[in-house]
Amino acid sequence: MKTYKIAAIPGDGIGTEVVSAGLEVLEALAAREGGFAFHIDRFDWGGAYYKRHGRMMPADGREQIRNHDAILFGSAGHPDIPDHVTLWGLRLAICQPFDQYANVRPTRVLPGITSPLRHVAGPELDWVIVRENSEGEYAGVGGRVHQGLPIEAATDVAMFTRAGVERIMRFAFALARSRPRKRLTVVTKSNAQRHALVMWDEIAAEVAAGFPDVAWDKMLVDAMTMRMVMRPETIDTVVATNLHADILSDLAAALAGSLGIAPTANLNPERQFPSMFEPIHGSAFDIMGKGIANPIGTFWSAVMMLEHLGEPSGAVRLMTAIERVTANPAFHTPDLGGRARTVDVTRAVIDAIAGANA
Ligand code: IPM
Ligand code: MG
Repeated sequence: MKTYKIAAIPGDGIGTEVVSAGLEVLEALAAREGGFAFHIDRFDWGGAYYKRHGRMMPADGREQIRNHDAILFGSAGHPDIPDHVTLWGLRLAICQPFDQYANVRPTRVLPGITSPLRHVAGPELDWVIVRENSEGEYAGVGGRVHQGLPIEAATDVAMFTRAGVERIMRFAFALARSRPRKRLTVVTKSNAQRHALVMWDEIAAEVAAGFPDVAWDKMLVDAMTMRMVMRPETIDTVVATNLHADILSDLAAALAGSLGIAPTANLNPERQFPSMFEPIHGSAFDIMGKGIANPIGTFWSAVMMLEHLGEPSGAVRLMTAIERVTANPAFHTPDLGGRARTVDVTRAVIDAIAGANA
């Protein structure tokens, strides 16, 4: 029997609550499927670790998880620690050195969940946003000088490389091709960002030539927000820069009903390093410790992890169980307007796994 080694990094805030729920569900799924098992190693990195050690993860942290098959991540963020410290100290400290350059964010209106868009009930909104995850506006290039003086200056340089843009375009076109509608929207801002995003557009056109069966179009990011709201049915797969896609994916999650259900995969497609799976909601201090966090974003991320590990039947069974549970409003957490608690949703998904056919 195949045993997958999973590194679980719950992190901070509700991350700890939803990752515990996710691990319970994965164990139940493995027991039901029978063909594979999980070996879970938990790492207590994050804000509390920072308070004890002055860093978000140990110096050899990446070495400790380097040979795991996948990483299940909760969230990083702490009320007492600046956000850029928690982000760069943990999540980006894993994503970037492990070259998880393709961030994949599917969005659908799951059964039982209401979109704030009046005309959207289900099939009109079925998207995958591909976020460039290694460079662009998150390259970390820049600096700050003369702090506190009137002449203080600061820069954040968005850095784009041909290699980085080519690989994310190829990934996005291939993903679009694998989906029934074979349609890709390349998001850009090459009117204002007149160097890097012009290169981005040129590379999109070059890569498109290798995918004649994919219908693609180009859209400025501001206009894209409008199209997502007004004509969601015209969108299928989307590729955008690190920051543009960060913003668009929050909008996408809200349009699908709640940030609490949105999953993400940080993929190293070449599999030289482990890939990382996480809900996109963040640590949500306002509800942490209350037991009301929505675990669906983590469960759906676990589905993406199973797909990546090569367990398609387990992935389908878990997704079926998730949809069965969201279909019942009794299992909606407060972010979805319900009164269910994390444990109720978790228990319901575990029960549905037992009954669900793959
Ligand atoms: C996301 C999040 C992160 C990001 C935050 C938590 C730093 O918003 O995954 O979308 O900006 O990348
Ligand atoms: Mg975000």
